[in-house]
Amino acid sequence: MNLSGRDFLKLLDYSSEEIIYLIKLAKAFKIKKHNHEPHNYLKGKNVVLLFEKDSTRTRCAFEVGAKDLGMGVTYLGPTGSQMGKKESIADTARVLARMYDGIEYRGFEQKIVEELAKYSDVPVWNGLTNEFHPTQMLADIMTVSENFDNIAGKKLVFFGDGRNNVANSLMVICSKLGINYTCCAPTQLFPNQELINTCQEFAKQNHSEITITDNIELAIKNADVIYTDVWLSMGENANLWQERINLLSLYQVNKELMQKANPNAIFLHCLPSFHDLNTTIGQEVYEKFGLKEMEVTNEVFESPQSKVMDQAENRLHTIKAIMYATLKK
Ligand code: CP
Repeated sequence: MNLSGRDFLKLLDYSSEEIIYLIKLAKAFKIKKHNHEPHNYLKGKNVVLLFEKDSTRTRCAFEVGAKDLGMGVTYLGPTGSQMGKKESIADTARVLARMYDGIEYRGFEQKIVEELAKYSDVPVWNGLTNEFHPTQMLADIMTVSENFDNIAGKKLVFFGDGRNNVANSLMVICSKLGINYTCCAPTQLFPNQELINTCQEFAKQNHSEITITDNIELAIKNADVIYTDVWLSMGENANLWQERINLLSLYQVNKELMQKANPNAIFLHCLPSFHDLNTTIGQEVYEKFGLKEMEVTNEVFESPQSKVMDQAENRLHTIKAIMYATLKK
């Protein structure tokens, strides 16, 4: 498998075999990391991380992953570069490509990361856009594969805003890997029909099904993986909280819901999560709307079925795999 020089912008661009290869590579890196085995295979290279939105996991995974591989790293935060303000995306891409071997971008529209890639002749990696979150997906499916011998034919159910970048990306990766994907959301928050149609085609080729429903009982039946995400995504207006709470409260992942899934089902969340009041936003929402927990209860989040910390750790190994595979000669 040769992915040298490739961008990593969305999983629609990658074949099932390429995705599986990256997850296998990540598992090999995980073993090396746990064994404290040096793997600075990309010594002498440098990468730049362009973040127009905040991050804990994605930023740290790129930074630690790059350093473990022997590379130098520059972090440019939301106010740290000229991009978009005094310099176009095209000019930024061409300048950065003269100095760096790879460029990570987290920000707004998918078209921005696509434009960075168009004007740069080094690999560009999507660290989250409004539409997709592809690096998250590799960690998610790696975590699923650590809990089930065979991922093909398993049923993954997403509860929440079915149109957000995580839900969109789950639908893509599941359809590419033969995992049955159910998006359970109120009809107002159903995914884009064009993306559903594309994924239905992939699912057909890979003998799996895509189901979009607002029926919670139907969705949870025989579920192997229960996944949720915050009800308001980064960059969305805070005045949407009331509307989202009204729409999504019924779709909260709680013990009662988990008990209706398969007995060995696992719980995943890309994080951060509002499962308690130990955050500023969680506290504000509590004071305004009286909710102590949102998309998942603390009981489920802290339960043995919850694999969210393994999933967060796997961000490092999968992002390292992406950088290595696309930068090695
Ligand atoms: N899941 C995720 O992308 O986390 P961060 O926002 O902390 O990077």
